[in-house]
Amino acid sequence: MKKQQVLVEVDDLAFPWINRFMKESQKQVLLETNQSGYLELQNISYGWKIGKKTLDQCNLSISSPGLWMVVGSNGSGKSTLFRLISGLISPQEGRFICSFQPALMLQNPDHQLLLPSCSSDLLLSLPPDLDSSQRDERINSALTQVGLEDMADRPIHTLSGGQKQRLALAGALASQANLLLLDEPTALLDPISQRSILEIVRKITRKSDKAPITALWITHRLEELTFCDAAAIMEQGRLGQWFSGEEVMKKII
Ligand SMILES: Nc1ncnc2c1ncn2[C@@H]1O[C@H](COP(=O)(O)OP(=O)(O)OP(=O)(O)O)[C@@H](O)[C@H]1O
Ligand SMILES: [Mg+2]
Repeated sequence: MKKQQVLVEVDDLAFPWINRFMKESQKQVLLETNQSGYLELQNISYGWKIGKKTLDQCNLSISSPGLWMVVGSNGSGKSTLFRLISGLISPQEGRFICSFQPALMLQNPDHQLLLPSCSSDLLLSLPPDLDSSQRDERINSALTQVGLEDMADRPIHTLSGGQKQRLALAGALASQANLLLLDEPTALLDPISQRSILEIVRKITRKSDKAPITALWITHRLEELTFCDAAAIMEQGRLGQWFSGEEVMKKII
């Protein structure tokens, strides 16, 4: 993959008084990377309530495309971490560097599918500057990637739960996001639909794919760890280091 330079914004809220005196040019860093994107969290903290940190000095670095999994007990801060990476909330302390375009996918597809048919829903995800043939092409390609190529006109309420989750994934792909944030995407699915989502995501994150993307996947289903490139454990608002899926499984069981 060719090396490229990316200019990314830096949030340094740990030292707001220094931040005030920084020139605009110093708030950006030029990264040389041969990846499709770059994500780094340095000592990030965030509290929903004053005085209680949900994310506590959390560090995370993603250095290559692939399928990265996060496990951890209920309330350890996994979904809060994803909200922060997707830009829904901002860090209260720490440094956040991200050149990816993220898309968040939730446990329940009914919480993110809004329009009546598959193709009309996908239209919502597309960048605004496409003409109608580019829009059709992008929609057909996203539906094909998730195995729903014959379903463009299908009313969403007639889809099964597994098909709805694949449509939600097609929305993320149609938006041309290069960082998928999957928050327990298979929690409501049967084993066959679970496997189909896992296989689609694994395929598009392979280095052999022409434009491999990066996926961060939260799971409570430990058997899913056998599909990942690396996994880390979230504990009390802090993410541990990356290990192989098998090693993380052994640490938990
Ligand atoms: N929107 C919110 N408003 C207030 N508190 C919140 C909000 N979202 C999460 N929290 C709190 O933050 C803490 C961490 O929640 P979070 O959802 O990040 O955990 P999680 O690791 O994703 O848990 P689970 O495995 O159950 O999904 C919890 O105490 C939760 O109540
Ligand atoms: Mg959660």
